[in-house]
Amino acid sequence: MNSKLLVKLDKILLATRNRDKIKEIADALNNLNINIVSAFDVDVPEVDEDQETLEGNALKKARELALATGLPALADDTGLEVEALNGAPGVYSSRYAGAGASYDDNVNKLLTELEGVPPSRRQARFRTVMAFVYNDTEHLAQGECQGLITETKRGEQGFGYDPVFLVPEQDKTFAEMTLAEKNNISHRGRALAKMVEYLRGVAQPG
Ligand code: IMP
Repeated sequence: MNSKLLVKLDKILLATRNRDKIKEIADALNNLNINIVSAFDVDVPEVDEDQETLEGNALKKARELALATGLPALADDTGLEVEALNGAPGVYSSRYAGAGASYDDNVNKLLTELEGVPPSRRQARFRTVMAFVYNDTEHLAQGECQGLITETKRGEQGFGYDPVFLVPEQDKTFAEMTLAEKNNISHRGRALAKMVEYLRGVAQPG
């Protein structure tokens, strides 16, 4: 039903204050010809990410910011699921080392939890859920990327858990990839590719 809806999409609000995510999402939306604004550019409330699923948090962020601004809003929520930790940190990835934890705190905690776990048992996946909300139109897109958690940090690019997330096919961590290389295969890149297809379908030409 949503695919029949045509909306004039000349501006999208990215429902985040994470500059690293804004950079990746803006890059992926680049050829859609839509102006991008972020939660830094408009006066919007902070959204409490208190849902128990990535879907719940992504929808909550997009709904609240769309409502507050009247703009179409796009939100993402991402979790790192580590097999040897039964899927942790998952939806709690941003506060794995506690409230207000830095990227480094979270990575260090992960490496500590996995101490002694051999490479053959360090499988993990990133999962991103993107939510688009505009008036009563809502759409979700998901992307995943499989990898391994390294024993030490590698690389300087990217953010968050990137220095310890190894993509075996490339023998590179996300932090050893350029932005374009990462976006091409990453959880967020894959979710975004699906979202871009959807947005092309609903955007009114001209
Ligand atoms: P959230 O989507 O902002 O809740 O992100 C959850 C946690 O995962 C945060 O600590 C982020 O730093 C981390 N994270 C999100 N996306 C990525 C990514 O693409 N690479 C590495 N870490 C990420």
